[in-house]
Amino acid sequence: MSSRPRIRKAVFPVAGLGTRFLPATKAVPKELLPVLDKPLIQYAVEEACEAGIETIILVTRGDKEAIARHFTHAPDLEAFLAERNSHQPLERVRGILPGQVEVLEVTQEQPLGLGHAVLCARKLVGDEPFAVILPDDMIRSQGAGALRQMVDIYQESGCSVIGVEEVPLELTQRYGVAAVEPNHQGRMEIRTIVEKPRPEEAPSNLGVVGRYVLTGKIFELLEGLGAGAGGEIQLTDAIARLMESQTVLAHPFQGERFDCGSRLGLVKATIEYALADEELASDLAAFLRQRAGRLLA
Ligand code: UTP
Repeated sequence: MSSRPRIRKAVFPVAGLGTRFLPATKAVPKELLPVLDKPLIQYAVEEACEAGIETIILVTRGDKEAIARHFTHAPDLEAFLAERNSHQPLERVRGILPGQVEVLEVTQEQPLGLGHAVLCARKLVGDEPFAVILPDDMIRSQGAGALRQMVDIYQESGCSVIGVEEVPLELTQRYGVAAVEPNHQGRMEIRTIVEKPRPEEAPSNLGVVGRYVLTGKIFELLEGLGAGAGGEIQLTDAIARLMESQTVLAHPFQGERFDCGSRLGLVKATIEYALADEELASDLAAFLRQRAGRLLA
């Protein structure tokens, strides 16, 4: 058994404006947009719970209480469904959050960037290592979830771990980009990390995706940071500083990522999950075949 502290807390920065989905996100936070019958945030929380997380920390804008409400017990709704013998919907509502998991919330007063959003969770996290999940990066895994894979690497190495995947070189300006070298344990150590580099300046085509396991030291580094790329306080810049005193690993997770912060990504995720759904798969497949036939005609 490792004597390292367990990763018990996960920070969900959900205070962004979601401008790519306006007007849908004018009143409804992006993280409550559904893929089939579950909102994005619920898939992310399920991944966190599978990784052993016990405390969910939502970093929200002041007007985003709807996200926390999704995880709140709803006795009236449950009583209504129970009275009508609506067993399946009742089970789905009851199953939103395992009993031992708590949800806390902190407000990011101004959208000053992802790094700033993570810093807002400092008091609730304390000094211990913790996870960060961006719910709009949805990762569908066959075996262990992406965060579980990363938590296991932290337990084995004691190092911060950043989720990465290869991205097209022409898209590096949308990502943090990391250059890595293999170490003796066969893990990838990050040598350089930069936020949103132009393709000609990118140190590699390994893009950072929305999964992180970080040591508590990241907070003091975030505290001292000024604005970086796009005028925002960037988590990537704090990770670059962390690398000056601690080893930081990259993990090319097993699983397929859908960028649900973009309209196309949300459509692709919806199709993928629907094709894996017993009730929907065959009708949807028939529809897709018919449409594909038309496109190819
Ligand atoms: P995005 O870059 O996707 O921004 O943020 P956004 O506002 O959510 O969406 P668009 O680009 O306007 O459509 C990446 C993640 O960081 C969070 C967002 O909520 C999202 O999970 N974030 C970003 C914050 O919590 N606070 C910020 O100040 C910025």
